[in-house]
Amino acid sequence: MPNNSEHKILLIFSTVLIVLLGYLNYILRGGFNLFPLYLILLAIVAWKENLLNTMLLSSLAGVILIVKIFHTQHFYANEYLYYWDGLVKFSLLFIMSYGFWKIRHLMHIRDEINLELKQAMASLAAANGELNVLNSSLEIRVAKAVDELREKDNMLILEYRQALMGKMINNIAHQWRQPLNALGLVVQQVPLYYDSNEFDKEFIETNTAMAMKLIQHMSRTIDDFRNFFRSDKEASIFGVNQVISQVLSLVEETFKHDNIGIALNPESDPMVNGYPNEYAQVLLNVLMNARDALTAQNVDNALISIRSFSEAGKSVVTITDNAGGIAEEILGKIFDPYFTTKGPDKGTGIGLYMSKTIIDKNMGGLLTARNAGSGAEFRIEV
Ligand SMILES: Nc1ncnc2c1ncn2[C@@H]1O[C@H](COP(=O)(O)OP(=O)(O)OP(=O)(O)O)[C@@H](O)[C@H]1O
Ligand SMILES: [Mg+2]
Repeated sequence: MPNNSEHKILLIFSTVLIVLLGYLNYILRGGFNLFPLYLILLAIVAWKENLLNTMLLSSLAGVILIVKIFHTQHFYANEYLYYWDGLVKFSLLFIMSYGFWKIRHLMHIRDEINLELKQAMASLAAANGELNVLNSSLEIRVAKAVDELREKDNMLILEYRQALMGKMINNIAHQWRQPLNALGLVVQQVPLYYDSNEFDKEFIETNTAMAMKLIQHMSRTIDDFRNFFRSDKEASIFGVNQVISQVLSLVEETFKHDNIGIALNPESDPMVNGYPNEYAQVLLNVLMNARDALTAQNVDNALISIRSFSEAGKSVVTITDNAGGIAEEILGKIFDPYFTTKGPDKGTGIGLYMSKTIIDKNMGGLLTARNAGSGAEFRIEV
């Protein structure tokens, strides 16, 4: 590309040359036709310069040409011919110089567009490359984050289950109190009967059988607790009512001790494909929350109603208490991790978060809560 000073030199050179050519024509009086030289000069200027310079130069050439034509009119046979010749040559100068300039201009635009296109394509390719790298790493990162989250959730479920185990010690104590008392009576009977006539083989057999039955009952309680805290390895189909009764057998003595009634209302026996122990953990957590609310409010006729039924091909269990419900302003937060209204030594706030993870994520169901009647209602739908 010629620079600015080269342009100036070209322009001055062309102007001087055109004037010189004009002068030469004047001297030679039309002996030579120098018109083609004008054209070549103008073509070069049009090619290199802008439109204004091209037009100025072609006007100068045109003026010189007309002066020359007027000066040599005696060469023309007809008076009008030299007008005509002047007009044609003058127009030719303009048209040709404009044409050259236009072609050059268009080529310039084309080059610029091509360059821009090339640059755009290059940056597009670069962006595409970056995007691909980002995309593939994003997939990996998202998968990793999801894995980590799942891992964390599962750890939380496990830890919470262990924490629950601690809470359940109290329940085991209540579960054992009654059979232990009964066992005590059975044992006390032995020395009392020893001196009487009734102390015979039959007495020993009945007494032993009774003691064994009580011991087996206590052993079963321990098994129930142990089974409950075992992790579900794989999903299986289980009856909702059976899990409800297992959970109730773990807590009924404690609830009785706290004067909380339980109304069980199985309308049907819906089946669920999922993790029975995790499901039991959810039930237990919701029941413990209801118990906490009922004892905190000191409700007379404290009652927890449990309904189980099928709806639109899904199993539904609702657990309703009469402890006054959940304040509207916290209803949207109770499933958040670490949200609790209980004291730090009483609640971790993980219970409902964990329950929702189990039902919604692990089993593809829905755990919801609302206020109904004179308390809170939790609905487990799987
Ligand atoms: N039946 C209910 N009645 C009234 N409020 C409830 C009931 N169930 C849950 N809540 C509210 O929801 C909150 C969160 O319950 P969540 O089970 O997640 O944690 P927590 O019971 O406080 O602690 P954690 O279960 O970890 O020991 C409770 O602190 C309580 O305010
Ligand atoms: Mg809880």
